[in-house]
Amino acid sequence: MLQRQLRPLIFKRFDIKDEKVNEPNFQAARIIVILGTSRPNSYTSKALLPIIDELKINNVPFDLIDPSKLSLLWPGIDGNERDVLKIKDICSQADGIIFSTPEYHGSMSACAKLIIENLGFPSVLAGKPMVILGVAAGSAGAIKSLEQLRCVLSHIGAIVLPGPVSVASVNNVFGSDGLCGDPNIEKRLRELVRILMDYIDP
Ligand SMILES: Cc1cc2nc3c(=O)[nH]c(=O)nc-3n(C[C@H](O)[C@H](O)[C@H](O)COP(=O)(O)O)c2cc1C
Repeated sequence: MLQRQLRPLIFKRFDIKDEKVNEPNFQAARIIVILGTSRPNSYTSKALLPIIDELKINNVPFDLIDPSKLSLLWPGIDGNERDVLKIKDICSQADGIIFSTPEYHGSMSACAKLIIENLGFPSVLAGKPMVILGVAAGSAGAIKSLEQLRCVLSHIGAIVLPGPVSVASVNNVFGSDGLCGDPNIEKRLRELVRILMDYIDP
């Protein structure tokens, strides 16, 4: 059953079923899902719901990074580093990352970029496989933001896998209940999990 809302937690750890953990030599991949906006009830968070559902169906444990619940720091500005250290820690241990961004002003969101900037220089994302998705109100979709996101992530050494998903006219795709009204888009969002898992564990 598709969850209708992302759970309002800073990091929510969803664990695999106990019986699978007990299989000999079983090692679960650790996936991080990054929400690239702090806007309440964002369409970006709605676009993550089929992905999270797919992770759960496949018993893949994951953590969700929700920037609205975090105190991230601007580079060079002092502050409490607790959340910064926490996201650095969980990302450094990740086997794969699912990174989302809305398109704001023809660009990835400042929030998505701030998350990246809080993940170190050099970045803990270096060497991490990832898949990306973007959503936009406009009919052109999130092409520009995804180009930028891919470029920045590649620059810091992440392995950005092919098959980004751009959701255009997003307000016509997801209902207020968070459910996706377009089966093709939902399929492509769910497929991001397969693309990532196939790379991690071919
Ligand atoms: C600050 C801001 C700038 C935006 N700029 C664009 C834009 O350049 N192109 C576009 O298609 N939509 C733009 N939008 C609309 C978003 O794409 C739209 O809100 C969409 O739902 C994704 O954002 P969300 O995840 O915050 O809901 C903008 C929205 C905001 C809040």
